[in-house]
Amino acid sequence: MDALYQNQKLVELYDAVNRSREDFDFYIAGLPEPPATLLDIGCGTGTFALELAHRGYDVTAVDPAAQMVALAVRKDTGRSVKWFTGSVTDLDIDLRVSAAVMTGHAFQCLLEDTQISALFEAVGQRLSQDGSFWFETRNRAAKPWLRWTPDHAAPPVDLGAGRTVEVIHRVLSVNDDCVTFEEHYNFNDDSGTLTSQSTLRFLDLDGIEKLAAKNGLVLSETFGNWKREPLMRDSPEIIVRLKKAV
Ligand SMILES: C[S@@+](CC[C@H](N)C(=O)[O-])C[C@H]1O[C@@H](n2cnc3c(N)ncnc32)[C@H](O)[C@@H]1O
Repeated sequence: MDALYQNQKLVELYDAVNRSREDFDFYIAGLPEPPATLLDIGCGTGTFALELAHRGYDVTAVDPAAQMVALAVRKDTGRSVKWFTGSVTDLDIDLRVSAAVMTGHAFQCLLEDTQISALFEAVGQRLSQDGSFWFETRNRAAKPWLRWTPDHAAPPVDLGAGRTVEVIHRVLSVNDDCVTFEEHYNFNDDSGTLTSQSTLRFLDLDGIEKLAAKNGLVLSETFGNWKREPLMRDSPEIIVRLKKAV
């Protein structure tokens, strides 16, 4: 598990560094009307799960990173979401959801085919017959990691009270469809620098479809960006909606 999701200081920075979220409105537009039962997989600090609960959905949210879930629970002062630390396979087999979502490129944390198969199987078991599983991966063909350099760093993020943090990326290796990189969090005060190393997988659509088919799911829709434009070869995102095979 990445330090990003385990180190208490980095976990507490997650929401500040990830403030701008075009993906939330995109996914909300694809969901059934509330009240419906939803599953947020890799829920992280819980911002999307809390937004869904606020809109009247019955939300279960799960993530393997205990520190991320603990922060989500602290944010949920109204106890509006059912939170779990672990994976979908740990959830009650009788849970039935109209839709499952996996946002924030959490799908790319799954590096092995076996992990993706286990995810697809577990989601399929818990989806209602006409339910949907929505998630996205950055598009490998667009090679986004070429811009993960200090030159392309975003402006420092305001943390309040005069504190800022600048996040700088450095790619360490690109092997097949996996990219390993460091993130350096440079603070403007005496906190110094925190560093996290991550590996993300860039599985292409063909690979997603094949693993889905092996686990009883079929491709229902794809998009190439958060404006709902069609998936093209160089689209930034591969946004996928899977359904149960009939
Ligand atoms: C970039 S965060 C996204 C969090 C949240 N979904 C969002 O949109 O802000 C990636 C999340 O994926 C989680 N994760 C890592 N491995 C996972 C796995 N095998 N299954 C599900 N989630 C995983 C991490 O713990 C982390 O919370």
